[in-house]
Amino acid sequence: MSNRVIIFDTTLRDGEQSPGATMNLQEKLRMARQLESLGVDVIEAGFPASSVGDFEAVHAIANAVTDVQVAALARCNKNDIDRAWQALNGARNPRIHVFLATSPIHMEYKLRKTPDQVVEMAVAAVRHAAKYTNNVEFSAEDASRSNPDFLVRVFTEVINAGATTINVPDTVGYAQPDEYGKLIKYVIENTPNSHKAVFSVHCHDDLGLAVANSLSAIQNGARQAEVTLCGIGERAGNASLEEIVMAMKVRPDVYGVDCGIQNEQLYPACRLLSLIIGRPIAANKAIVGSNAFAHESGIHQDGMLKNRETYEIMTPQSIGRKSTDLVIGKHSGRNAVRTRLEELGYRLDDEQVNVVFAAVKDLADKKANVHDEDLEALVFSEVYRLPDRYRLGNVSVQTTMGSSMPATAAVVIQAGEEEMRRAGFGAGPIDATFNVISQIVSRAPDLEQFSINAITGGTDAQGEVTVRLREGEYSATGRGSDPDIIVASAKAYIDALNRLDHKERDALRTQEATGEPAINTCN
Ligand code: KIV
Ligand code: ZN
Repeated sequence: MSNRVIIFDTTLRDGEQSPGATMNLQEKLRMARQLESLGVDVIEAGFPASSVGDFEAVHAIANAVTDVQVAALARCNKNDIDRAWQALNGARNPRIHVFLATSPIHMEYKLRKTPDQVVEMAVAAVRHAAKYTNNVEFSAEDASRSNPDFLVRVFTEVINAGATTINVPDTVGYAQPDEYGKLIKYVIENTPNSHKAVFSVHCHDDLGLAVANSLSAIQNGARQAEVTLCGIGERAGNASLEEIVMAMKVRPDVYGVDCGIQNEQLYPACRLLSLIIGRPIAANKAIVGSNAFAHESGIHQDGMLKNRETYEIMTPQSIGRKSTDLVIGKHSGRNAVRTRLEELGYRLDDEQVNVVFAAVKDLADKKANVHDEDLEALVFSEVYRLPDRYRLGNVSVQTTMGSSMPATAAVVIQAGEEEMRRAGFGAGPIDATFNVISQIVSRAPDLEQFSINAITGGTDAQGEVTVRLREGEYSATGRGSDPDIIVASAKAYIDALNRLDHKERDALRTQEATGEPAINTCN
């Protein structure tokens, strides 16, 4: 058996299904390029039949990357598979990934099919996909709660029909490491044609065991791991790419396997994701959290000074954390900004560099030093923006401390050529600002989440605000950064409104193009 584990990244499909993690096309492309630099083997780019937006994203990614396979997800029906194949048109190395549930509860209540009908559907779907490509993956949804002998039956048949990868998902995060490892071993040993396929794992983290289960599966013969950056995904998330990769790299004595991941790209990739989806990485997150390499206690610090290995099993550099933070200032030139952006992994064209450079100059008027994190925030706000419907013109607020007077806010919003302005009240300055913005755009979404972080240290640090809004079945997360936290909040609120608007338009386009509503995999 090969000792190479295929890393199948599903950040852009299963990860994006996590509430608030939706990305626009530009953001998905940026993420896909970063995943390619990271060295993943397969990027699952989306579920083309679910919406026109997903179709376009898969198509764009398929044509943007070269050194990595691009997979598209499809249910076991002809239309989904055809849509997946159309979306993959132009990909150097396309993969069709079909899935069908095999557990008694899913077959009876969700699919309303008998086991025989499920086998028939799976075989027909794989056969159809195999007419397009010999790179076909079959996933037995809810495999960990399926009858192992039924799995063997389904796997035998779909391999005969042309499946080359067999995925055994723990869809609901129910499995335990030892049990799951045994299941993988059992299906590999008992499927007579298992040698014709790569067996794969795909674990969810409902009991906090996604990584442990995936590693157990690898020890028992799985040679593909389906993972996401920072473990984002449905409910409690998926198995985290960086944790599985570093476990394999740090403990070759236990796993005896390898993969093609460039580990120095792990931190930049996770940081990029966090910026894109506007969700900070938890300080204690394994591998990439800000505390992962911080040593606070005196005994630990003393040990570290004598020999790093007393308390460090890997170095920060090995996952791409830079020890130096080059500071850009008021007098830095365009070239310094361009060079630093390149060092941080941003490949921007001249026009984009000019936009960031102008924003750096503005920011440097407000704060002395522009750090890497500031630069990244500017790239996101100025370059990777959706084509916005609304843009913040100006905001001014007034509060009187110790008085019962409500806070007042006056806001100017640019909508294309039109300038809209209004003033109003609120319980505090942020409430007043949000009230006025929603009156200007005549929408009243629910504010589901609001968080604020300082991007760097220092009292002049930029505030990074994340806002999640919900309107009906859609929710969207917006981000904004500025040294003034009211301005950052207004930007984040408007960004979320623009994203809501984008989602609704995507749903409308899907309805018009297919006559069917978009499948809300990600809200
Ligand atoms: O969790 C799951 O079962 C899935 C499948 C579509 C692979 O995401
Ligand atoms: Zn999943």
